[in-house]
Amino acid sequence: MAAAATFADDFLAGLRARPRAIAPKWFYDQAGSELFERICTLPEYYPTRTELALLDQHAPEMAARMGAGAEIVEFGAGASVKVRLLLQAMRTPRRFVPVDISGAHLQRAAAALRRDHPGLEVLPLAADFTADLVLPPPAGRRIGFFPGSSIGNFEPAAAEALLRRFGGWLAGGALLIGVDLIKDPDVLHAAYNDALGVTAAFNLNLLARANRELGADFDLTQWAHSAFYQPQHRRIEMHLMSRRRQRVQVAGVPFDFDEGDSLHTEHSYKYSVEGFQALARRAGFVPGAVWTDAARRFSLHWLEPAPGPAPTTPQEDMA
Ligand SMILES: C[S@@+](CC[C@H](N)C(=O)[O-])C[C@H]1O[C@@H](n2cnc3c(N)ncnc32)[C@H](O)[C@@H]1O
Repeated sequence: MAAAATFADDFLAGLRARPRAIAPKWFYDQAGSELFERICTLPEYYPTRTELALLDQHAPEMAARMGAGAEIVEFGAGASVKVRLLLQAMRTPRRFVPVDISGAHLQRAAAALRRDHPGLEVLPLAADFTADLVLPPPAGRRIGFFPGSSIGNFEPAAAEALLRRFGGWLAGGALLIGVDLIKDPDVLHAAYNDALGVTAAFNLNLLARANRELGADFDLTQWAHSAFYQPQHRRIEMHLMSRRRQRVQVAGVPFDFDEGDSLHTEHSYKYSVEGFQALARRAGFVPGAVWTDAARRFSLHWLEPAPGPAPTTPQEDMA
């Protein structure tokens, strides 16, 4: 597994690469986490409300599958909103371990959860789950929770490697994972191009973060948010496009951009239920129940570990 890369290392390497690309995990400083929370409330952004409705409707069945005294490890927990529906339905949840790369945001969400669930052990871990995460031994049957279709941010081979990695951490426990489904491209386009421009601000925050943390001098007015559905790969692609020919300094290093040059910031792969189940099988899981909404926009999958030796984690860069 790659050692934890710093934002500076990754950002500079991403600008030197062709095509230029930065991993979406770097969106999430404090400002990025707050912008993401605003995205979750937008009328165009169907994934959050659809997944919340599925959790609300099916939490008792999900909790029954977990069993009494289980612990939940949420990968990329953010504001830890969705897990509340599970915790309410669970019988004596043993522990909640939210993991997130956005440390201050994670601590705030953990403090709020402790207030609302005084009997529950909450153990936040500020870490990058693609790199430097070390989990404590399970305190009960360990259930992984990976909502928000964050799995879609990984190339399919990296998604498989990540699931295999999760499988190793779950120590025989199960994984509940949210996966966005293939749908009308217009619905997808609107979700990533909201009328208020919050997704654009979220994307541009990557450059603002480089200005804050790396002494860069990006002029944000000279960069445009671009997000579109790429049907061949069944993914949304998100880019930052240079509006003109320009030179930018990052950590004292000059980088030149032509008008129309792109900095790729995110892929969001969409799956069919069967396509995702096939990926989960390749990663060492046995697909169980699947919950979807009536319009089949979003899915939640219950995955059990395949019997046999625990899968090994390939040394693959998942960032
Ligand atoms: C799309 S948001 C989802 C938040 C929440 N789970 C939800 O479903 O609404 C992704 C979250 O994962 C975190 N994250 C992204 N990449 C990460 C990584 N490599 N390691 C740890 N956390 C990560 C972000 O900080 C953010 O809170």
